[in-house]
Amino acid sequence: MTTIQWFPGHMTRARRQIQDKLKLIDCVIELIDARLPLSSRNPMIDEILLGKPRLIIMNKADLADLEVTRKWLDYFKKQGHVAFPVDASTGTGVKEIPAQLKLLMKAKIDKQISKGMNPRSIRALIVGIPNVGKSTLINKLAGRSIAITGDRPGVTKGQQWIKVGKEMELLDTPGILWPKFEDMNVGYRLAVTGAIKEEIMNLEDIAFFAVKYLSKYYWEPMKERFGLQNETPIDPESSDEIIKVLEDIGRKRGCLMSGGRVDIEKASRILLHDLRAGKMGRFSMEEPF
Ligand code: G4P
Repeated sequence: MTTIQWFPGHMTRARRQIQDKLKLIDCVIELIDARLPLSSRNPMIDEILLGKPRLIIMNKADLADLEVTRKWLDYFKKQGHVAFPVDASTGTGVKEIPAQLKLLMKAKIDKQISKGMNPRSIRALIVGIPNVGKSTLINKLAGRSIAITGDRPGVTKGQQWIKVGKEMELLDTPGILWPKFEDMNVGYRLAVTGAIKEEIMNLEDIAFFAVKYLSKYYWEPMKERFGLQNETPIDPESSDEIIKVLEDIGRKRGCLMSGGRVDIEKASRILLHDLRAGKMGRFSMEEPF
């Protein structure tokens, strides 16, 4: 099994880059993946943001289990955060963002008004782990396609502001946070959803983890998608049964090698592709505890 490397150097740089930008903005839009709200955020986020007001957006909510998402919304509310689900790819929920930011900044805006000042537009920074949908959301908010360049070490470029309506401006370069995957399960959850590249981890291990998880929580959708013949759900603790499911998937999809052996790598790829594309319906990989 590949050991996942967690590079503290990445985090130190990302933290410095985000903190440099905090001086320029009023509040932060933190994007997390609705399917794995804890694993897809950096556990040091509170320290990194130095108390900046923050809106939590559960992106890719179109792919997540509705009931589990509701539980997470409750969880964040109890923690005193404003969170809501969004599908940045179609734009569902995106229109709410400017109004929610205004609410978040209400005290500051009211203060400016009471001093006779004309409140300027709210300046926000989008932060999140790679692949969570930062560029997609920026484009949706802007209503046009923006070339997001990303941060590069040693390259200083002027900050660009993207106007969103009359009352909001976004920094054009999102802040990249790194997930913290010292825990193997966090790494696997991120890999199953496609948040981290397969090269980092073994593809078949990722598929094994996915089948184990699906057989526990989403057995029927998997059974239906791949026409599995099992009468009852498999035992998620049995490696043999998990491998047999992968073999059955491979056979159903014609992933055969010479001699009739199943190409497990191909079967793994198909399973993960279908899962990520929502072909097995909505799924979430974490519930609040
Ligand atoms: P990033 O800037 O945070 O790295 O993420 P980015 O916007 O590039 O999004 C990563 C992938 O996630 C993209 O898919 C994007 O379309 C998809 N995505 C973003 N938001 C949502 C969402 O709310 N729902 C769903 N279902 N998908 C979302 P891709 O396959 O990498 O690229 P593309 O084929 O869409 O171009």
